[in-house]
Amino acid sequence: MNDDVKKVIYGTVIVFAGLLVWWFGIIFANSCGGSLNCSRGTLTVERTPIPTLLPANLPAIENTTGGVSTQCRVSAADFVGAWVNAGSPETDAFQFADINGQNCEATFEEVRPLFIESNLWYSGSMSCVACHSANVATSSAQLDLGTYAGIKSGSRRADAESAGTDILAAGKWGSSLLYEFISTSKADVPGHTDIQANLLIFAGKPLPTATPTP
Ligand code: HEC
Repeated sequence: MNDDVKKVIYGTVIVFAGLLVWWFGIIFANSCGGSLNCSRGTLTVERTPIPTLLPANLPAIENTTGGVSTQCRVSAADFVGAWVNAGSPETDAFQFADINGQNCEATFEEVRPLFIESNLWYSGSMSCVACHSANVATSSAQLDLGTYAGIKSGSRRADAESAGTDILAAGKWGSSLLYEFISTSKADVPGHTDIQANLLIFAGKPLPTATPTP
């Protein structure tokens, strides 16, 4: 064989080997990044911002791994109620039982969206904060539902500095104004005419249960 043919053959082999290394390099970088556990290669679980709000008229999505539900399903009113009954903690977790009797826990972070998201309590609903906004002077019932401090300050406030009626009834959910206004629809109050009492949401996560020893 003459040298030119050898050059072409070796050249082709080297280019091909180079391409292989490059291709596997891309695959490796994509699924492994800088580490060797290649966690990016496995399918990630997509989570929407919590609580994952699904209209109650759609069939429940089976969100299970190995028979154990990965999220809790609870009525929105019961969920807020559990938070109130637990003393309405700002950051600490509170516990609740979901509709399957599972023990779950969540934080206020998952309660807040119920007050600030629109199209939630019923199709096309306004958010609570659309009316119960930060500006106490113009807000309906002088109530600010946008922040933790606002909720705790209550309704019918004289001004931004003063507290008003405790809508959480000092932690007694059943007798609170908040319970009354989200569990019953009020025909004469705009924004409260179509509140759906039994809206189901996904929220919180199951508490680990003791696994039976084999
Ligand atoms: C379209 C405007 C509007 C929307 C939206 C709205 N509200 Fe209201 N809400 C009102 C008005 C007006 C009142 C005062 C009723 C009255 O004077 O009796 C009120 C009263 C209340 C009260 C009682 C306060 C008190 O001292 O009497 C609570 C609690 C409340 N709303 C919570 C909510 C929650 C929670 C949401 C969201 C799920 C919400 N509101 C959405 C207009 C609205």
